[in-house]
Amino acid sequence: MNGFEFQCATKMIFGREKELCVGEELKKQGASRVLLVYGGTSIKKSGLYDKVVKALDEAGLSFDELPGVVPNPRVSLVRKGIGLCREKEVDFLLAVGGGSVIDTCKAISFGVFYEGDVWDLISGKVKPGDKRIPVADILTLPAAGSEESDSCVISDETIPMKTGFGSPLMRPVFSIMNPELTYTLPPYQTACGCMDIMAHAMERYFSPTEHVEMTDRVAEGILATVIHNLPIALENPRDYAARAEIMLCGTWAQNDMTGCGRQQDWFNHGLEHQISGFYDIAHGAGLAISFPAWMEYLCTKQECVPKLAQIAVRVWNAPMNFENPAETAKEGIKRLRGLIREAGLPLTLGEAGVGTERFEEIADAMTDKGSHTCGAFYPMSREDILSLLQNMA
Ligand code: NZQ
Ligand code: ZN
Repeated sequence: MNGFEFQCATKMIFGREKELCVGEELKKQGASRVLLVYGGTSIKKSGLYDKVVKALDEAGLSFDELPGVVPNPRVSLVRKGIGLCREKEVDFLLAVGGGSVIDTCKAISFGVFYEGDVWDLISGKVKPGDKRIPVADILTLPAAGSEESDSCVISDETIPMKTGFGSPLMRPVFSIMNPELTYTLPPYQTACGCMDIMAHAMERYFSPTEHVEMTDRVAEGILATVIHNLPIALENPRDYAARAEIMLCGTWAQNDMTGCGRQQDWFNHGLEHQISGFYDIAHGAGLAISFPAWMEYLCTKQECVPKLAQIAVRVWNAPMNFENPAETAKEGIKRLRGLIREAGLPLTLGEAGVGTERFEEIADAMTDKGSHTCGAFYPMSREDILSLLQNMA
């Protein structure tokens, strides 16, 4: 196990009807002028918007609104939010929605104190400073884990490019998590969210660092919990217990608890961000295509097989083949693909409407034209990436 620092100070407020306390909690945290940020119509249709407005009014908080966040959130709206914060002297950002809404707030919160264009921060050209407007959220979609993570991901649709930045100060101050708020999620979105949660656990799980037994076991617990509860939530969207388990998994998969003391891989997220930057597909759908394909690709790499077999046995209950552990690994991948298929997610780029025309561009972008490799568990070269993309087609 490597040395590490870990601090996650986000206050988690979890349970039925907890959104009703948002006004009081904001006041307790020192808010006086709030910017309420949300996406499209889902929070209005569910009645959540009205509840939030009432709670803010009752707490005597004045607020402005920034609606219109879209999946794969756009830097243009971030710029608009920065302008609003400066004009209205906003001192607290409240995100109501999923990862895209929370990420938009995170980018605004740092962008307000940067004099240049916020894309400098997002693209990593300039490091974020230590000033930001605090962010809180009411989570409606367990997936990205942005409700406790220290990073955000934003797209510039004009380039097109999707990338992100982070800071230890970026974690939200508090996060309200009522599993009932996820009852209205369409099945596809529920499934995409679960795939993202699993991917966050696996990006850390697949590590070259040895002696990380405790965090491996926590990640395996998260994976097994999602695998068990996703079919239940799809069958009965109003199953509180299943929704609650998935919600907690979403946060703990991505707050970096399971990343402590280890090198992390993140190849699949790097690849997925390229794909969704070009093709605007759901993040979880992209991961459903890439993760099993990448695992299968690594079955031919001797040094990767033990960990691939370990996850197959411990998480997917595959029988261990001591003579040929790669077969065990493949059985685990087969079971992962089975879950993805049952959940209605794509398994190939073709099924997601992604063509082969940008493979070279993707491989170049990920490796800076072949000048470095990607991923810590197995260093993927430009050629590896091109072969993998062919397998994913
Ligand atoms: O816009 P509305 O109408 O609210 O609809 C949203 C949106 O269309 C809908 N939705 C959300 N909650 C709902 C609901 N529909 C019905 N009922 C509800 N309760 O879901 C759609 C997708 O929302 P979005 O926020 O885009 O999804 P998600 O939470 O999966 O976030 C994905 C974004 O997060 C980034 C991804 O790259 C992607 O851009 N990520 C952020 C990370 C982070 N900050 O730590 C890490 C992740 O790996 C990820 O990269
Ligand atoms: Zn993700």
